[in-house]
Amino acid sequence: GKTRHYTFNIKYHNVTRLCNTRSILSVNGKFPGPRLVAREGDQVLIKVVNHVSNNITIHWHGIRQLQTGWADGPAYITQCPIQTGQAYTYNFTITGQRGTLLWHAHISWLRSTLYGPIIILPKRNESYPFVKPYKEVPIILGEWFNVDPEAVISQALQTGGGPNVSDAYTINGLPGPLYNCSSKDVFKLKVKPGKTYLLRLINAALNDELFFSIANHSLTVVEADAVYTKPFETDTLLIAPGQTTNLLLKTKPTSPNATFLILARPYFTGAGTLDNTTTAGILEYKLPNTTHHTSIKALPLFRPSLPPINATKFVNVTQFVENLAKKFRSLATKQFPANVPQTVDRRFFFTIGLGTSPCPQNSTCQGPNGLKFAASVNNFSFALPSTAMLQAHFSGQSNGVYTTDFPTKPLVAFNYTGTPPNITNVSNATRAVVLPFNTSVELVLQDTSIVGAESHPLHLHGFNFFIVGLGFGNYDPTKDPANFNVVDPAERNTAGVPAGGWLAIRFFADNPGVWFMHCHLDIHTSWGLRMAWIVQDGPQPNQKLPPPPSDLPKC
Ligand code: C2O
Repeated sequence: GKTRHYTFNIKYHNVTRLCNTRSILSVNGKFPGPRLVAREGDQVLIKVVNHVSNNITIHWHGIRQLQTGWADGPAYITQCPIQTGQAYTYNFTITGQRGTLLWHAHISWLRSTLYGPIIILPKRNESYPFVKPYKEVPIILGEWFNVDPEAVISQALQTGGGPNVSDAYTINGLPGPLYNCSSKDVFKLKVKPGKTYLLRLINAALNDELFFSIANHSLTVVEADAVYTKPFETDTLLIAPGQTTNLLLKTKPTSPNATFLILARPYFTGAGTLDNTTTAGILEYKLPNTTHHTSIKALPLFRPSLPPINATKFVNVTQFVENLAKKFRSLATKQFPANVPQTVDRRFFFTIGLGTSPCPQNSTCQGPNGLKFAASVNNFSFALPSTAMLQAHFSGQSNGVYTTDFPTKPLVAFNYTGTPPNITNVSNATRAVVLPFNTSVELVLQDTSIVGAESHPLHLHGFNFFIVGLGFGNYDPTKDPANFNVVDPAERNTAGVPAGGWLAIRFFADNPGVWFMHCHLDIHTSWGLRMAWIVQDGPQPNQKLPPPPSDLPKC
């Protein structure tokens, strides 16, 4: 592979959306941020220079970071933040991955504007295991706030209540014509008839799983989270924050006299009517014999039908979501094998979900019943330390930074009866699980769905995992494992734990370091739905975490 150099200058940049101008944090004055393009096997060096007053870190979401844990990016897990006027060079090699991922800031809510695509092309002499696309187009979904998202999260944490929601969803930074004052900020996908386009779909939204669909066109899924999948067709996709999917779009054989909307909108929402919560782009065909494209004004307009939005009643779409999740399968071929652990060394059962914790004395809290919102894993809300865990681990000085007694099962037994039980005994702690090198891990994540039904897109840093099982209600350890798929399960870095259900994953702990795991809905991360795994060095030199780079930021 070759070496690729990037410089990311973090700067203020004025952006106007919905008639509101904000000075946002940007990379090199771009919103969304620049594309990182590399081939499998390349070494990538990104020098991040902080020209703003916020502390910054960048995470290369989904990059395995084999033996390069220092380049992973989550603040206070693998590094201290890059402070004003300072720089840090992230240095990693892309090994055994090809497809689409994303990069984003990994501190507070700064990823609301600091995000962009990672495009990993196959090695020079290798081709795609599907038809060669005529063109490739990144489509990155996001959220636009008319106010500073940093103020939104700090207010939510102070009052213990829910955060204000964003003002629009976006496609490549553009809200589209269904929002007020947004008729010009529309993403247009200009196509020719009879061609195959590769859409690199990324969900970079802060807090919402999104449905995605293009009117009158079906989509073929060929890759997810930078792993090829068995191809399957679908009209509608559900994509969680942190997930990425490559889709083939086959255009119609001749240019139709019509315009087609591309829509994305959330799975769950607190409020709003359809048009308030839907971002739209336009699929435009080149008109025959002209250089002109079809236009939204002149021609009949088709809009896709998406599953209904659900504020509280999630049941009607659960079946759709479950069916879709089960369609994702690894290729599991000789060239692209699925290295699923067939035996398990360590089993874990984690309850995850939203709950409440007591309101501090002499304050009033805006969460349910006058309490504070809290989210937890096995009854612990993970508190970020004030120095990086990876540094403490590497230097053998974990005292006062973290403990290694994270419980392997919930402190309070969980039973989902359809009525959400109360999550009790939630306390703050910085606890990790320690795993010997190459442990094969099985983890069952049970959603406790206490305050409202939401599925939790769980993201694991440093690994891909296999989704061996998924179901609703209580996980049954005596029956469910019999139905696990250990042949060709989906291999991902982010997967939805169904609302009121469970997800079983397996992975080999073959990457030494400290690895964050959290819900990729930022509000849940902020409330504490997060924890860390520590993987010890192996005996061989190529199984050890090397010392930190000399420019690693200090706290
Ligand atoms: Cu994309 Cu820890 O996150």
